[in-house]
Amino acid sequence: MGKIKKICTYFISILVSLLCIVEAVTYNVIHFGAKPDGKTDATHAFLNAWASACSSSSGWGSTIYVPDGVYMIKAAEFRGPCKDQIDVRIDGTLVAAPPIDYSGASGNSGYWILFIKVDRLSVIGGTLDAKGASFWECRNSGQNCPTGARSITFNWANNVLIDGLTSVNSQLMHLVINSCNNVMVHNVKIIAPEQSPNTDGIHVQSSTGVTITESKIQTGDDCISIGPGTTNLLMDNIQCGPGHGVSIGSLGRNFNEIGVQNVTLRNSVFSGSDNGLRIKTWARPSNGFVRNIHYQDIVMNNVENPIIIDQNYCPNNLSCPAQSSGIKIEKVRYENIRGTSATQVGMIFDCSPSNPCSGITLQDVQLTYMNTTKALSFCNNIGGTVADVVLPDTCL
Ligand SMILES: *[C@@H]1O[C@H](CO)[C@@H](O)[C@H](O)[C@H]1NC(C)=O
Ligand SMILES: *[C@@H]1O[C@H](CO)[C@@H](O)[C@H](O)[C@H]1NC(C)=O
Ligand SMILES: *[C@@H]1O[C@H](CO)[C@@H](O)[C@H](O)[C@H]1NC(C)=O
Repeated sequence: MGKIKKICTYFISILVSLLCIVEAVTYNVIHFGAKPDGKTDATHAFLNAWASACSSSSGWGSTIYVPDGVYMIKAAEFRGPCKDQIDVRIDGTLVAAPPIDYSGASGNSGYWILFIKVDRLSVIGGTLDAKGASFWECRNSGQNCPTGARSITFNWANNVLIDGLTSVNSQLMHLVINSCNNVMVHNVKIIAPEQSPNTDGIHVQSSTGVTITESKIQTGDDCISIGPGTTNLLMDNIQCGPGHGVSIGSLGRNFNEIGVQNVTLRNSVFSGSDNGLRIKTWARPSNGFVRNIHYQDIVMNNVENPIIIDQNYCPNNLSCPAQSSGIKIEKVRYENIRGTSATQVGMIFDCSPSNPCSGITLQDVQLTYMNTTKALSFCNNIGGTVADVVLPDTCL
């Protein structure tokens, strides 16, 4: 009796598995009417594929598949919560409709592709081409321009994997992670010209547990920018440049602001970038903070400001009420940072007079200028310690 029961259970479980496999449908955007010709508007096909995948509850997750080819997409909002995990597999290229429809799917401005309130999502592969050039031209000419759009944004999303994505020529930021938990970004490539305005590579804010690894970023603004409310961020194996470096900030524009803590950048290379390791705060009162930051095993190739803390950010001397930054910076560790500075002042610590930097640690830092040891450092309002060889000499 027991044996028959076992055999029955076995066959039933196989049957259930088979049913589940049948249920684990792939939603191919072509079947929803998308044309890979680069000029037919595929927005509705993508949104309909999402709607189907998002409402499916097979228990095995749903896959949205974008085959090879070029798809023209307008601003699109992929909204959760979904019934199950969603994998978006992209072999093709998504291009923005000329010009991007700035209005967004539900009145939002500033997004091209937006994932919102989704839990358990992966975006694998794919190229995004926002064709930002005409937008930059407008910005650079000082005309009144539309708001512009970020290429791909994740808002209030948890347990997300972004792997193998390429983004070129975003109008504004390329990849934004905002108010998310547990996000892995791996093997992404971001490319925009050095002179393109505000085309940050990856922007993280109000998020916990974000990991960015093995990624290459060449752009016109920060390679990675880290905004208020970022905690437990790990960046490993990043190649940055051209670009404005990896920046914590600008912080402290507002008085009430959530702090940034536990951020690590390691095994990374900066080449020809404006900055390397930057922390930047407005010269304004604020209750925010930056603490427990760790930079380790970093190579600088001809970087203008390899190490910089700037707490006197006040563009055009406007809206900074002749005060110092309220952001308290503490426990920042620089360990094994080597290479060349493109300017003579290789290290700048320009900390707030009202909130001096404390617990700054420099260990085995060696930066040269024009093949000499003539690099200099600049310090204001800083406290901390130095270990092993540190060049240029610091004021610590
Ligand atoms: C700091 O962040 C890392 C992930 O980058 C995490 O593994 C670690 O637990 C965090 N440390 C603390 C004290 O929260
Ligand atoms: C801003 O104001 C300060 C002090 O008033 C002055 O020294 C500095 O040159 C000004 N900077 C600019 C960019 O105007
Ligand atoms: C710097 O030194 C390296 C190795 O000694 C040498 O190959 C290079 O040409 C030098 N560069 C300059 C600008 O002097």
